[in-house]
Amino acid sequence: MYVFHRADAMRRYLAACRSSLGFVPTMGALHEGHLQLVRHALRECELVVCSIFVNPTQFNDPDDLCKYPRTPDQDIAMLAKTGCHLAFMPAVEEVYPPGWQMPVALQLSPLDQVMEGKFRPGHFKGVAEVVYRLLELVEPQRLYMGQKDFQQTVIVQAMLQQTNLPVALRVADTVREDDGLAMSSRNRRLSPEQRQVAPYLYRALLEARRLYPELAVDEIQARAMALMQSAGLRPEYFDIVDGHTLQPVANGAKYDYVVACAAAWAGEVRLIDNVTLRC
Ligand code: PAJ
Repeated sequence: MYVFHRADAMRRYLAACRSSLGFVPTMGALHEGHLQLVRHALRECELVVCSIFVNPTQFNDPDDLCKYPRTPDQDIAMLAKTGCHLAFMPAVEEVYPPGWQMPVALQLSPLDQVMEGKFRPGHFKGVAEVVYRLLELVEPQRLYMGQKDFQQTVIVQAMLQQTNLPVALRVADTVREDDGLAMSSRNRRLSPEQRQVAPYLYRALLEARRLYPELAVDEIQARAMALMQSAGLRPEYFDIVDGHTLQPVANGAKYDYVVACAAAWAGEVRLIDNVTLRC
């Protein structure tokens, strides 16, 4: 054990320790996708904090907030088993005390006007603000997020730049079930029949990867939408975008980073996924 008599020496020690503090924000109902982020953080940081907070401000649909799965005891056990050092499970009042506001008015447009932003108005403002607030409370050096929510990672990176927070964003690959379905807390709400059709979202994305760039973008989109529909999914969008700007790619133009992103409903459960077509 270290014993400090001088505050400045103690603060120097703490500063050294905090120089490798990693942070994994989540909304709980944890699965392997979340735990992979924690493991990634454990490999790179001395201390790892994982937050579990179902953030009300990012739910544009009150029913979705209400039905969002909550499994706190199981989550704590999973985090402890994975070796996470600290779980942070704040109440809403802790995260949003009266009078709290963002120090900077974020400019998220046009990143938040497409794909998820188009179908979930206000969602990304809620995400960007809660991640900012959690970073303010935890003060990590590294932030770990999943490629599964690709648009979210781009928006959080924009928030980090605009607020000048000295935090490095690390993005980890999507963890999938054996049949390709991206792991998600919402998957546990799928009926056995819906669970059967859910992997067609990923299959449509793989089909786009197979066809791009030989086939025209709108033709790829049409085929992918048809593939999902015929499997029994209700697709919301299938977009092929520039990975930097999130704007749709134009046929024939050159891009160094292209991502296909899609959302579809399986019954009452909304699924999202993406694959990189070029990077
Ligand atoms: P949540 O959906 O719980 O996800 C927490 C983190 O886990 C996100 O960075 C997400 O991209 C990542 N993740 C989820 N499923 C994954 C998978 N199958 N493979 C890899 N990573 C995966 O995303 C949120 O919570 C919230 O919006 C949050 C950032 C916590 C803000 O409230």
